Amino acid sequence: MTAKRRILVTSALPYANGPIHLGYVLEAVQTDIWARFQRLRGHECHYVCADDTHGTPIMLKARTEGVTPEALIAGVHAEHARDLADMLISLDNFGSTDSRENESVCRQMYLALRSSGYIEKRVIRQAYDSSANMFLPDRYVKGTCPNCGTADQYGDSCEACGATYSPADLKDPISVVSGTAPVERDSEHYFFRLSAFEESLKTWMAGGAVQPSVAHKLEEWFSQGLKDWDISRDAPYFGFEIPDAPGKYFYVWFDAPIGYLGSLTQLCARTGIRFEDFLAPDCGAEMHHFIGKDILYFHALFWPAVLEGAGMRRPTSVHAHGFVTINGQKMSKSRGTFITARSYLDAFPAEYLRYYFAAKLGPGIDDLDMNLGDFAARLNSDIVGKLVNIASRCAGFIAKTDGGRLAGALPEPGLFAQFTAAADAIAAAYEGHDYAAAMREVMGLADRANQYIDQRKPWALAKQEGTGEEVRGVCTQGLNLFRTLMIYLKPVLPAMAAKAERFFGETAWNWESASTPLLGQPIKAYAALASRLDPAAVARLVGTAPEPAPIATAKAAPAAAGTPAAAPLSIEEFARVDLRVALIVHAEYVEGADKLLRLRVDLGELGERQIFAGIRSAYDPATLSGRLTVVVANLAPRKMRFGVSEGMLLAAGGGGGDLFLLSPDAGAAPGMRIK
Ligand code: 2FM
Ligand code: ZN
Repeated sequence: MTAKRRILVTSALPYANGPIHLGYVLEAVQTDIWARFQRLRGHECHYVCADDTHGTPIMLKARTEGVTPEALIAGVHAEHARDLADMLISLDNFGSTDSRENESVCRQMYLALRSSGYIEKRVIRQAYDSSANMFLPDRYVKGTCPNCGTADQYGDSCEACGATYSPADLKDPISVVSGTAPVERDSEHYFFRLSAFEESLKTWMAGGAVQPSVAHKLEEWFSQGLKDWDISRDAPYFGFEIPDAPGKYFYVWFDAPIGYLGSLTQLCARTGIRFEDFLAPDCGAEMHHFIGKDILYFHALFWPAVLEGAGMRRPTSVHAHGFVTINGQKMSKSRGTFITARSYLDAFPAEYLRYYFAAKLGPGIDDLDMNLGDFAARLNSDIVGKLVNIASRCAGFIAKTDGGRLAGALPEPGLFAQFTAAADAIAAAYEGHDYAAAMREVMGLADRANQYIDQRKPWALAKQEGTGEEVRGVCTQGLNLFRTLMIYLKPVLPAMAAKAERFFGETAWNWESASTPLLGQPIKAYAALASRLDPAAVARLVGTAPEPAPIATAKAAPAAAGTPAAAPLSIEEFARVDLRVALIVHAEYVEGADKLLRLRVDLGELGERQIFAGIRSAYDPATLSGRLTVVVANLAPRKMRFGVSEGMLLAAGGGGGDLFLLSPDAGAAPGMRIK
């Protein structure tokens, strides 16, 4: 055993604006297995994470929902914490970037950067929404691509031709917050001088802090030259105000990675471990960040540079993984393949997913496909058919003999030795993030254990006279092989391992426990550790989410069918709904969507909008152009598979699927407010 290491590990912080989904679960499981493995080996390993709570999207979402951002993120935090705990993620602290501790670390690090000369003020020109009184991030400006002329493109790049540009280059730009045309304004911003760290980042990278495929990506970025980084945003902004800069806030991506340290600060206060023992430049501890490959720039360039500039140690490693696909496709809400942690947990045990991810996770950044048929087959074959089968075939015979004791010696110590000899290879695979290799090794051994039992046939032996000791020996051998494998799998299957520990009458296995067989001890009654998955039930994980139908009837229909009306609304709440008369300028079918029509509507002073409405079953698009109807105009834009929907059409609906668009009386004009 190597000397005891002191290790801090993190998973990227989930955004506090939506539920935990299987893509994030992959990351949490990857980190958790690594952390649990280190603890099983006897190292001191702390695993911290937090919700990522700041920034414009969360501020606007809270506004749309009519709650404070603090209330919004508090609700999400409780859900995230529950989901992660139920996925058996062994976090030592799950904080929030909106915590006091995080604010204090942000300030300290910023002031350290500033006093070392790494912060520079510069004036930038930025899109400004004068009706919402706010500066607009690039993605909050939309318009026509200056390069290819495609309408309805974001302010930073065109989805049709791939051109990148700034919002000022768009033709006919509009703010997605208010629908009005933005203006340009000057604003003083604070920049972190990333360019000053180029050489030291290269040295850090050359020391093996990132995977080889990631190092190539970083070299590409180095060759393009490192740009200084704007770490400030103007009010209104949900975040922390920058010291000595009223009205200026830290950009969410500045305080997010610092959130790792804010969370660590909370852990220190609770447990007595010391912050500087993990963050001082020569502290001797390790710091490992697990992240998705899409946020490498922030973690492999900005973050080590910010740490170094603030006088702290840099990460030991930044380990990136790929994305989860479902049945070969990107997760998508509209296709019903967006699986949340909760919808998974409502149907199946966490450990089945943990094992499946482990069995498919290599050390690289390839995407991981969760094919649902393969998931069921793999679980049934490996966990039920191989692993648990060893115990269930042997346990009963021990219970029947000599007071339920294991034999005093193994009949085949050589076979047991083969199992313990695999420990180093399995440990090296875990350490090197090659969980797939570790699982292959374990399942190869499980096959050998089953072959042994098949050959010795305890069930047939038990029918013969005078074979009691032999049966006990064979089953003691089988159970010890099972025990060794469960110890190897403890980082992946912690709950099953805990049950197996109790079955053997033991507590708290460590990695070394695998090297000595358990002999002469009584064991407890065996209860099944896992049961088969029904592939049909697994298939139901997808396809249940309905195609979004952004029209009011989606909610109105159940009331018509006899369910109670929604909770009462206050007049203030109702007043926040901006209902407008809309002129349908154009309507068309949406290829690939069987419920939707794409509409362009004219909202008078608010300009033109695109709206997707689930009215295809009731309306021929050709009959809609030129008609007046009613629209909710201040609904937050919704990104759908086919484009962004910037409002909601109102329609009446009966239980039978009939739909009736609302129309104002003659004389109403587009944009008129409905009160
Ligand atoms: O990409 C994301 O989901 C971010 N919320 C990750 C932040 S990780 C870290 F920097 F805090
Ligand atoms: Zn374009």
